[in-house]
Parts: sequence; structure tokens; C-alpha cells
Amino acid sequence: MSKAKYTITAALPYANGPLHLGHVAGVYLPADIFVRFLRMNDHDVVFICGSDEHGAAITLRAKKEGITPQEIVDKYNAQIGKSFRDFDISFDIFHRTSSPIHHETAQAFFKKLYDNGKFTEDTSEHYYDEEYNQFLADRYITGECPKCSNPSAYGDQCEKCGSDLSPTELINPKSTLSGKSPVLKTTSHWYLPMDRHEDWLREWIKEGKLDGVQQHDPKAWRNQVIGQCMSWIDGGLHPRAMTRDLDWGVKVPLPNSDGKVLYVWLDAPIGYISATKQWALDHNKNWEDYWTGDRKLVHFIGKDNIVFHAIIFPILLKDHGGLILPDNVPAYEFLNLEGDKFSTSRNWAVWLHEYMEAYPDKSDELKYVLTSIAPESKDSEFTWKEFQTRINSELADILGNFVNRALVLTQKYYEGSVPEKNELTDEDKRVLEEMSAIPDRISKLVYAYKLRDAQAEAMNLARLGNKYLAETEPWKLVKTDPERVKTIMNIALQITANLSIILQPFLPATAKKLSDFLNFTSSDWTKAGRDNLLNAGEKINSPTILFQKIEDELVENEVAKLKSSNPVESKFEPQKEAINFDDFTKMDIRLGTILTAEKVEKADKLLKLTVNTGVDIRTVVSGIAEHYSPEEVVGKTVSILMNLAPRKIRGIESQGMILMAENEEGKLSFMIPEKGFEAGGTIR
Ligand code: 2FM
Ligand code: ZN
Repeated sequence: MSKAKYTITAALPYANGPLHLGHVAGVYLPADIFVRFLRMNDHDVVFICGSDEHGAAITLRAKKEGITPQEIVDKYNAQIGKSFRDFDISFDIFHRTSSPIHHETAQAFFKKLYDNGKFTEDTSEHYYDEEYNQFLADRYITGECPKCSNPSAYGDQCEKCGSDLSPTELINPKSTLSGKSPVLKTTSHWYLPMDRHEDWLREWIKEGKLDGVQQHDPKAWRNQVIGQCMSWIDGGLHPRAMTRDLDWGVKVPLPNSDGKVLYVWLDAPIGYISATKQWALDHNKNWEDYWTGDRKLVHFIGKDNIVFHAIIFPILLKDHGGLILPDNVPAYEFLNLEGDKFSTSRNWAVWLHEYMEAYPDKSDELKYVLTSIAPESKDSEFTWKEFQTRINSELADILGNFVNRALVLTQKYYEGSVPEKNELTDEDKRVLEEMSAIPDRISKLVYAYKLRDAQAEAMNLARLGNKYLAETEPWKLVKTDPERVKTIMNIALQITANLSIILQPFLPATAKKLSDFLNFTSSDWTKAGRDNLLNAGEKINSPTILFQKIEDELVENEVAKLKSSNPVESKFEPQKEAINFDDFTKMDIRLGTILTAEKVEKADKLLKLTVNTGVDIRTVVSGIAEHYSPEEVVGKTVSILMNLAPRKIRGIESQGMILMAENEEGKLSFMIPEKGFEAGGTIR
């Protein structure tokens, strides 16, 4: 039977911010391991990714950073692409959805579905910002959540209670552009009538059949993927708008559709196809070969993307016709960080680019840890302490220790020549047998998308080697039975050569180092398991340390860094821009005692005060009348900003300002010193 062919995609990250370890552990690293393994097993495979450069995620970020959407996507496409290269994720292409080839591809795709009557057109009311003359995408509307009263829910979702919302459900909606209440205005859009697709989706997801023909093995799909899809379908699918009124995105390729673009979740997955097209052009291939015929399409994604890849995109692919549907959609759960969710807004994250800047030669260490804790079937957690433990007691103490012993002893006893293997003992035979069984076990696990167990199985070979040396103790035996030691060392070196093969998908840099030590290179998985990869007499090199131990200091620093850059979730406004000490000392703040107070005529909020400042008696107009009566304030010693330039308020010259504390409801309170501090005292 010929080998299965694969088209592997990894979710296109939004080009609106850097990647963190959660993204890496739950999409890019597992996809990369899978692809490296397929390549070693001689499958025809292409590995596709790129940045997702449309949608409100981008335009909102642009607004926040005060630059254009194009500048945002250029900035983050470059940053994300570099992180992937530094971390050595082996995409065949990392493309972009802002490229012309993508716009053409997405438009042609849309047009084909439109021409074939796959969309319905519907006119309905949507929120519109009259000041900005713009329809508002869901994310551009905030208001009170009807379910939990969170005052800042979005038009599509409340992040506090997790409810899916539609903009018209929000209480007291506001446009995030103008801050004003939006109005409802009619507009027409093209919809994907997903409700018409429920029947075949059911059969396809549950049984893996399309039109009665077996397509994939439904048992190979993760339970949570099938579960999520079925709960969507059983809940009833609804038509979903495939166009939006926006100016950033792929223009709708129809007459009279100015100001309309494709829905980002229509355009983004088509990005997998356009990226394949670009890659095929660059490599003299036919892109169709990768999207048609007998080939497995596999989407690596996070769990929040399930519906788009296992329901919506398959509908689009089927409606288009002639293209393959996914064979599997391995979706990952979420990775948490030090007891909390990753959060970009709270900066509770370990950023891939920062990690690579700080530890440029530790990509394999991170890969190892992230695969060990990968959130395959449930959410999992990254802690710096575990990072340390896994590296020190597994990579360094087991793998590093074994390899080092094998190579150092070979240098010492045989001047770097691989010794002859003599007669095998039962123990040797058992070890070799065990070694020969490992590659197959890894293969089965990888094909079943159980990469965490697969990596553990690869590490078992290092464990086996480490135990073998510890038990046979060649360093003791060398004086009494040098012939036996030759066999032991030959076996230890064969194990090391095997490790240089089977570690490649998981720890490519380490596998390469092993190859360099041994002067042995093979990326042929079928060779793994053999006990004759190295021939007696071949020369090997002196090793260097494979893994440096992680000191406590690194853990402490990283945790401290995380905590210091993590402002608590706050209802208060963020800190203002930094000022220098000179700016601060320009302010003359003192204690002053209020001598008299009276209401200012026709001004509900104002009191006219006379204040003894210790150096003079002056008049200050203060906006506190709604919080204090004149009688309440007389005699109080409060804080006053003395050198604020005098200004006229309601015809009265105010010479300074009383400083007040304000709570979240806008209530004001004086800032009063402890007893024993009187007028004239300075505040600094
Ligand atoms: O959730 C996300 O980050 C999306 N940018 C993923 C898109 S995947 C694909 F459809 F392009
Ligand atoms: Zn809510």
C-alpha cells in the first residue's frame, strides 16, 4: 500500500500580537512534531501556516496602537514569523492573508459558491455609528451583558460569563469608535445557510461518511471535537453571515457591494489554500495535488476554533466541490500559566519571542517541556518550576547523562572508536529487543495524535540506556572483563544512534547534536530500532554537555518578572504616562485648614472656601458641594495644590486646588492627615 499523503495546517495566528506559550503548546509544536515524523516516514506532506490579517482583531489593535491596520499586520507578521523561525517550527510556508494571491483565491472561492446558489441574501438591521459613518462589527460594540450585568461585554461575547451574545442583546450598547449609542440601520448580507447542512454533517462527523462513502475513521477524532460539533448541530445550526460592512478585509467580489468584505472566518481558512498555492508556485508544484484526491487534510487548532474547522469550513469545502474535507481536526485544550489563564491584556504570558531572546539555545528544552504537558485531552499548566524539574531531572539527568557516559567512556577506553560487539548476554538481548520495539510504539502514538505519550516513549529509550549502563557498570568491569565492556559500549552507542533518529520529531536540535557526536546521520524512521547503525571501528567525537541544568535563580526571576508585569484586573483607570522627579517636585502640595465655606450661587457643585495654608489665607473654589455641606468642611485640615495657576471660576478667583480622593462611584473624600499635622505642612 502506498503511503498516505498529507496536507497539514496549523491555525493562522492573528497578526495582532505576539505568540505565547499557550499558542505554541496547543497548535504549532504538535503540528510540527507530527509533520517532522511524517517526513521521516516518507509521506508526501506539506505543512501550511501564515498570519490571519483581517477582521476586527486587527482593526481594533490598530486603533489601540494608533497605527493603520496594514502597519499592524506588517509588524506582527514579521514578529510572529521570526519567532517561528527562531523556535524552529518547520512550516513549508508561512504566508499572509493580506497577500494578493489570497485575496484572489478567497474572492474566487466566494464567487463560485455565490454563482452556485450556496448563499442566501438577507436584509436586516445592524448597529451603525453615525459619527463614523460605519456599520459596527460585533467587537466594536460594548454594553451591559444581559446575563451577568458585566458593563463591558462585547457584541459577540461576554468575557466575564462566557455567554455568546449578539449585539442587539446588549443593554445600553455603545460604539467603541465614538463612544456614542449606535443606531440600527438596514444592510444586506450573504449568509451561509448552515441549517441546510445538518444531516450530512451528522453522518460525516459521527461515522466519517460522506454520501455514504467512508472518508475518515471517526474513532480517530478526539472526543471533545466530536462532542462540541454534535452539541452545535443538535442545538440547531443557523444561517451565518459571510460578509461584513467593513473596509479592512477581502472585498466582496460582486457588483454594488462597496464597503463590504468577506467575513474573516470565511477568508481565513481559505488562507490555507492560498498559502498552498504560493508554496506550489515557489516550488514548481500543482497546488491542486494538495487539496484533491487521496490525501489527508489535517487541521491543528485550539479548541476555540473547532466549529470553524469541523463545521463551517467543511461546509464551504463541500459547497465548493472538488476539494478534500479534513481527515482529522486535532484540537487542543488550553494551557494555563502559573495558576491562571494566559491573558494578553493582563500581560500574564510567557511570550515566545521573549523566551527565544533570553534563551536562544534552549528551544529543545522548551519543546520538551511543552510536549510533556501538552493540553491534549484537558487543560494543563505551565510553571517555571516544572520547566526546571523536567529539564534537570529528565533531559539532563536521564538523556544527557546517558549520552555523556556512552561517549565519554568510548573516548576514554577506545580513543573514540566504536568497539566490537561480542557475544550477547540475556540482558543485552532484552535491552536490544526493547529498543527495537520502541519506534513502532512511537509511530502508533503519533498517528493517533498522542504526541505527549509518543515523546515519553522516545525518552524511554534514554531511560533504558541509562539503566543499562547503571546496571552493567562498565567503569567497574573494564579492569576485569574488557571484552564484555566492548559489547556494553557498542550497545550504548547503538542506543545513542537510535536516539539521534527517534528524537528528531520532538527535539530536532538535540538529535542533530547526537548525529554530530556520532558522525552518523539518518532521517529514515525505518532504520530506528536496529542494533547495527554504527560499525565497529568508526570514529566518534568528544561530546559537549547536552543540557545545562536550570538554576533556581532562573525560576525565581521568571516568576518575579511575570508577577511584576501583571497588573491586577482593575475597575480603575490605568496609570498615566511616567513623569520624572523634576516634574513631580514642581508641584507644591501642602496642608491647609478650611476657615470658612459657602455655596457658590447657581452652581450646585461648587463651594467657595477660605483656607489657611500656613503661609497665607487664600480663596479656593472647590467642586465638592455635592459631597460636603459648608458646615461639614469648616475646620478640616486638607491637602491643597498651592501653585496651580489661579483661574476664575464663576467670577471668583480660585488660588489652588483642594486634592480629593475619588472612589469608583465618583464619590469624593478629603485627604486628611493624621493628628498632629497642621496647616503649612508640606506633602511630598
Ligand atoms: O483563533 C485564531 O487565532 C484565528 N486567527 C485562527 C484562524 S485559523 C484559520 F481558519 F485560518
Ligand atoms: Zn456576562
